[in-house]
Amino acid sequence: MDIRDKRVVLTGAGGGMGSILASELAKRGAKLALVDANAEALERVAAGIVDAHTVTGDLSSASGCQAVAGQCSELLGGIDLLINLAGLNSFAAFEDESAEKIELMMHVNLLAPMWLARAFLPTMLDQNSGRIVNVGSIFGSIGFAYFATYSATKFGLRGFSEALRRELVDSGVSVTYVAPRAVKTPMNTGPVVRMGKATGMNMDEPEAVVEKIIASIENDRKDVYLGFPESLFVRINGLLPRIVDGSLAAKDRIARKFAKGEK
Ligand SMILES: NC(=O)c1ccc[n+]([C@@H]2O[C@H](COP(=O)([O-])OP(=O)(O)OC[C@H]3O[C@@H](n4cnc5c(N)ncnc54)[C@H](OP(=O)(O)O)[C@@H]3O)[C@@H](O)[C@H]2O)c1
Repeated sequence: MDIRDKRVVLTGAGGGMGSILASELAKRGAKLALVDANAEALERVAAGIVDAHTVTGDLSSASGCQAVAGQCSELLGGIDLLINLAGLNSFAAFEDESAEKIELMMHVNLLAPMWLARAFLPTMLDQNSGRIVNVGSIFGSIGFAYFATYSATKFGLRGFSEALRRELVDSGVSVTYVAPRAVKTPMNTGPVVRMGKATGMNMDEPEAVVEKIIASIENDRKDVYLGFPESLFVRINGLLPRIVDGSLAAKDRIARKFAKGEK
């Protein structure tokens, strides 16, 4: 897809990757509707961009997503590209995860991309063109200890992306699923960063990941798994998960201390 002059809805635009992605899309001539719950962050991001509207909204409910979709459609006069980037993380032993946090993460990470895709799809199908980009995670293919809720949401997002892509095969609408490994953004708080250092977890710069997300759109990619050896482990985990259980066990024991806040 050539990004120039495309009407783009980007969620999570105020965040670590979203703010960079917004300005890179703008440089390529996109017309942007930038969506985020954080109004201040959104205004900061939009300040440096000429062709951008901002939509402050909470994506944690169907009605919130519907309202956001309506505002974006009106501001842009339609849509060509939906990028579902907003997301939440939680690093915790599952026995310590609250019911509220589980529900919120399912809403924001999984249901919001589905609700937004549902809202914009009729327009895309009518014009017989459009692309939906769902930003998942390597944890959407490899269930990670102490990220059980997050992994579940991203596994769901990957399944949704695959099914929808197959459903739309005879239409002009396409679906891209991009799965980064860990990225240096505010999503990863102190304990995650310390655990990452202790276990040798690779962490990418957000600029490099954004470049790959843009390339996946421009090159009409279907599934993109970022980083080596993580992209290889995705394949091995799909075929031989017991091997991955074994290779992660020692790191999982170290991670537990950070997830439980032990010294
Ligand atoms: N960072 C990583 O290691 C990593 C790795 C793989 C995949 N990803 C995925 O990449 C995406 C972007 O992550 P990031 O690292 O850029 O995270 P980030 O810096 O935390 O940005 C996420 C953005 O989403 C917004 N958001 C959260 N809940 C929302 C809601 N209910 N309604 C509207 N907006 C909401 C946040 O707003 P607030 O600031 O108000 O919360 C924030 O601006 C996520 O989907 C994430 O799962 C991240």
